[in-house]
Amino acid sequence: MALINVDHISYTFEESDLNIIEDVSFTAGKGEFVSIVGPSGCGKSTLLRMVAGLVKPTTGSIYYMNREITEPNSKISFVFQDFALMPWLTNLENVKIGLSFSDMDEDEKNRKAAELLDRFGLDGFDDYYPNALSGGMKQRVGIARAVASDPQVLLMDEPFSALDELTANTLRADIVYMLENKNLSVNSVIMVSHNVNEAVELSDKIVVLSKKPSHIKEVVEINRKRPRDMRSKEFQRIIDKVYAALAR
Ligand SMILES: Nc1ncnc2c1ncn2[C@@H]1O[C@H](COP(=O)(O)OP(=O)(O)O)[C@@H](O)[C@H]1O
Ligand SMILES: [Mg+2]
Repeated sequence: MALINVDHISYTFEESDLNIIEDVSFTAGKGEFVSIVGPSGCGKSTLLRMVAGLVKPTTGSIYYMNREITEPNSKISFVFQDFALMPWLTNLENVKIGLSFSDMDEDEKNRKAAELLDRFGLDGFDDYYPNALSGGMKQRVGIARAVASDPQVLLMDEPFSALDELTANTLRADIVYMLENKNLSVNSVIMVSHNVNEAVELSDKIVVLSKKPSHIKEVVEINRKRPRDMRSKEFQRIIDKVYAALAR
């Protein structure tokens, strides 16, 4: 069974009658890393917000384990490009936002948030404010907050594009580790990216969108285990294939 099933959705801005997404369907299965690539402004963020239950499709439906998504759900979490941390809250308090819907008491929430900060290499930064952190550290707080609710599905909107390449690489490995480790809750990742190399390096499936009104140009499947040798001929060929689909 697919964890996420995007079923023939379209999206039109009501005020302007502008159609940005047209009949898009794809699934994200258990263990799958799915990337969405497409030109700037084609509706990728809108699509991801619909999967998160933040925006309602104009037509079509999106399902999480066969149940229609109509509102945000603690089993589906979001990681933002600009981290979206609250600057007036400490790092620990920011992570606790991810536990808002949990029935834990305050002590348990504090303990769990502190454990998550430790796990993401931020031991000792609990009482600092996000502005004291580097971009990579801020995104670690963003990821810790996202996984605090033990989500099955992690949605990420260009999560690494504001980071330097070395930091981005480390965080990519962390995400893959979470996906592949059976003891951790995350079972599926859907990532919006404008970085074709990154998408080919990480994904089992790449959904290539056209410019708006966007529809699917091609779904590129990559059945190879990670980590992948990105210098190999095979991966260069897949990268070319994705660029060709984008250019068509
Ligand atoms: N209120 C609105 N009315 C009409 N168009 C909008 C509105 N808000 C955003 N858009 C347009 O919707 C398109 C999709 O935006 P977005 O989902 O952010 O695209 P992407 O993430 O692929 O860059 C963009 O072209 C943007 O200009
Ligand atoms: Mg976007």
